[in-house]
Amino acid sequence: MTTIRVLGSAAGGGFPQWNCNCANCDGVRRGTIDAKPRTQSSIALTQNGQDWLLVNASPDILAQIRATPALQPARAARDTGIGAVLLMDAQIDHVTGLLMLREHRQPLPLYATPSVLRDLDRGFPLRGILSHYCGVDTHELALDNGAFRVPPLPDIDLHAVPLDSKPPPYSPNRATPQPGDNIGLRIVDRATGRRAFYAPGLGAISPEVREELDRADVVLVDGTFWTDDEMPRLGLSAKHARDMGHLAQSGPGGMIAALDASRATRKILIHINNTNPILVENSPERRELVAHGIEVAHDGMEIAL
Ligand code: MLT
Ligand code: MN
Ligand code: ZN
Repeated sequence: MTTIRVLGSAAGGGFPQWNCNCANCDGVRRGTIDAKPRTQSSIALTQNGQDWLLVNASPDILAQIRATPALQPARAARDTGIGAVLLMDAQIDHVTGLLMLREHRQPLPLYATPSVLRDLDRGFPLRGILSHYCGVDTHELALDNGAFRVPPLPDIDLHAVPLDSKPPPYSPNRATPQPGDNIGLRIVDRATGRRAFYAPGLGAISPEVREELDRADVVLVDGTFWTDDEMPRLGLSAKHARDMGHLAQSGPGGMIAALDASRATRKILIHINNTNPILVENSPERRELVAHGIEVAHDGMEIAL
């Protein structure tokens, strides 16, 4: 059986964000709203409960590992259940945790697209830095949509699905996005044929994404913003969701409408920004999601595929 464990369900900044006093961050800090704190964006997959694929390496990874005893099987004096790391993009909230894994006993197995690897060599040179510690055992992900496997999960087929989104603000390619800057991950359990689609950063419903949403049993997709102008409206940033490569949930053509058309039995939003009203469990926006059969991921959530 394939298990997906949500290690971190918040977008970049986490919830609450260290310097934010929006109604959500202030409310969760003071305990005056019904909402759970969340760490930054990452999931882990396992089949046997011992060997895991980490998908994204969050800045909060050390706390996430502490909160997940199954990631430490303690078979040797130095050990980890994390057999490999796969990246969806090169955003700071998805890669910075690699620095925290530098004590790994062997070069860290890392799976990423060529454009993500370029950003990790130039804009944010993590591979060069890690070469002075454990080093990185790099596996380039092709974008031909063929299946690939990683050693911790021999019975799962994975596929990288290129997405319309954006490379990180620090990327030399920020203004000229390349295919592979952002991918979604199709996860297929070979024994049961059941499939999941994970895409924490999704800017548009391309025909390829539409097919993933239509064919998946479980979808875990971009829940960053409720409205496209959420940050400008709160006076927190000039950036709209679409400027950041995120499709907002509400309104015509939004993520709720995209999920309504999906046959998935579980539809889950993940990578939720701290400003998003869906974080408040008794908010009208949360009730609207419930009415559409859409769940909101939380840290520690486990999904049996
Ligand atoms: C994003 O997904 O847009 C990023 O998390 C933003 C960030 O890391 O600051
Ligand atoms: Mn992010
Ligand atoms: Zn906030």
